[in-house]
Amino acid sequence: MIEIKNVTKEFQNETAIDYKDMVFENSKSYMLLGASGCGKSTLLNLIAGIMAPTTGSIVIDGKRMEELSQRERDKFRIEKIGYIFQDFKLIEEMSVIDNINILNIEGIDTQGAPKLLEELGILDKKNAKIKHLSGGQKQRVAIVRALVKSPEIILADEPTGNLNFAIGEQVIKELVKASQGKTLIAVTHDERLSKYFDFVIDMNEITSGKRDVVSEEGTKKC
Ligand SMILES: Nc1ncnc2c1ncn2[C@@H]1O[C@H](COP(=O)(O)OP(=O)(O)OP(=O)(O)O)[C@@H](O)[C@H]1O
Ligand SMILES: [Mg+2]
Repeated sequence: MIEIKNVTKEFQNETAIDYKDMVFENSKSYMLLGASGCGKSTLLNLIAGIMAPTTGSIVIDGKRMEELSQRERDKFRIEKIGYIFQDFKLIEEMSVIDNINILNIEGIDTQGAPKLLEELGILDKKNAKIKHLSGGQKQRVAIVRALVKSPEIILADEPTGNLNFAIGEQVIKELVKASQGKTLIAVTHDERLSKYFDFVIDMNEITSGKRDVVSEEGTKKC
């Protein structure tokens, strides 16, 4: 379980986000909606321990993240969190499989990659260079790279941002399916995709103080 407790994050003395209590249950999928600049990426970065909150606490499975050293937080992220970045962060000149096997440097076992590539329909691109792939194929590689370590938590920042609706919908379906049994938090602007998630959280409403908890299962709006 991920608990957000009275978290604020300031940048240059300006409060970017201010969340009271928010809980993400284990093995559930969450879609984060919200206007540009309302703090969606910041929230993912805080959960991943890439940045620390200015005040408040992020508690993951009972562990208070701010009490860990940066090194311990990095270890936690490497082992437990799969992060799919909006801009993929893939190396264009390298092959699909090498982009995944590069994780071996961090001690991650990538033997499960072929099976995941197969599940996402891109096993035949295993040896292709990233620069020769379409946007949807790159997105799938980014998903495989995040999932290969069997993370407990998957954070996806606009995984369909660069894709047309039909391909984006397909990628979301595959992402949700591949994330079964894990906690998935995905940022997306497209409300049409909400039906694939257990919960939808509207950050606009949270940031404006209208609500501070998530919706009921299956509902479309917060
Ligand atoms: N590193 C940073 N330095 C200064 N300000 C930042 C930084 N990161 C985010 N902000 C500010 O914090 C606020 C929230 O930004 P964030 O990137 O989390 O928004 P977002 O909801 O992800 O937006 P988008 O939908 O455009 O990606 C914005 O006002 C932004 O300018
Ligand atoms: Mg963002």
